[in-house]
Amino acid sequence: MVKIHPFERLGLPSSPLLLAPLAGVSDHPFRRSCTSKGADLTYVEMISATAMLYESKRTFDMLKRHESEAILGVQITGPSADQVGRAVAILDKMNFDTVDINMGCPVKKVVKTGCGSGILRDPERVFQTVKAAVEATDMPVTAKFRLGWDKTTRNEIEVAQAIEAGGAAWMTIHGRTRADDYGIPVDLEGIRRVKAAVTIPVFGNGNIFQKSDADRMIAVTGVDGLMVSRGALGNPWLFSELRDGDASVELDDWEETLLQHLEWQQSEYGEAIGAAVCMRKHLLWYAKGWNGVKPFREAVNAAGSLAGARDLVREFTRGLRERGVTHRSSIVQGESETRFAWDPKYDMDRSLDRGVGDDAMETLQVSEMV
Ligand SMILES: Cc1cc2nc3c(=O)[nH]c(=O)nc-3n(C[C@H](O)[C@H](O)[C@H](O)COP(=O)(O)O)c2cc1C
Repeated sequence: MVKIHPFERLGLPSSPLLLAPLAGVSDHPFRRSCTSKGADLTYVEMISATAMLYESKRTFDMLKRHESEAILGVQITGPSADQVGRAVAILDKMNFDTVDINMGCPVKKVVKTGCGSGILRDPERVFQTVKAAVEATDMPVTAKFRLGWDKTTRNEIEVAQAIEAGGAAWMTIHGRTRADDYGIPVDLEGIRRVKAAVTIPVFGNGNIFQKSDADRMIAVTGVDGLMVSRGALGNPWLFSELRDGDASVELDDWEETLLQHLEWQQSEYGEAIGAAVCMRKHLLWYAKGWNGVKPFREAVNAAGSLAGARDLVREFTRGLRERGVTHRSSIVQGESETRFAWDPKYDMDRSLDRGVGDDAMETLQVSEMV
């Protein structure tokens, strides 16, 4: 039987650009924004297998796909191969094109249940988990993982080979260990070693904020594609920049993109205050790179409605036009390493934006009940 390349099967180009699943961020208004600027594949944020099996309404709400999304992936994590397999069997009946298994989430309450990067110390469970997922669906199954638990117990090659042996279509490696925070540089050499150790495609992830970061990642590691995470927050144009090298953004396009995102937000969530509060982080991130942005940021932080946010965007762009501003150049200033240390969770509203792994927290409570 001739095996079709997974990129071809999903209609992806060579060297695809993926938007990572991002907890509390990757709803369809944000995903659509990234797709409109050139993301080849986007994902629903990490979903807990246990919560799915307990039919958590909140979890099923997170799985919504917009009718305009031509392709969509979903990401799952679970405490055992059996649970992941059963959850993937449910996802198989839903409207997704590919499923990724999260083996990288470092959050304490997630790893405590054996989920996320909690699996990394057990390559046999990595193998069994991928295998169970592959047996449960015809969709391409992939896995995203880190270089290991910490720098003294790195096992990226063993884990990568377990993922491949389990039947995965590709893998994504985030070039840090579970113990590393964003202040630690991405280990491109570690990514290169993973790429060299397997035959299936490998995506590189970590610290891609501008074209030169992507070029360096590909040149050093030879990866088959890239997965973008923090770099896309407020900058969906990163996808077009990675393709054509042009980092500048026209003010008209910027305004139109924000107004479009606000409209999608409203059609999904209505005019409830929560919709506006969840939008604040995006607007704060979108505001990066323009001069005189402080009053806009302060007003956004207090915006109580999407209509109010729309007015702020229009007012801000009007002000820029009056000052003769027509575009913004790269939001990344030179090659400074400090851009890599940025942790977006400080811009997120803890009570409304689900934090990374909050859904798995719900899982923990469910599992304590049984
Ligand atoms: C707010 C936020 C949410 C995240 N949620 C997920 C997630 O649901 N699944 C996942 O695999 N990684 C998640 N990550 C990790 C990123 O996908 C990525 O691996 C990490 O940020 C390194 O890439 P970067 O340096 O390009 O940001 C999240 C990161 C952030 C900042």
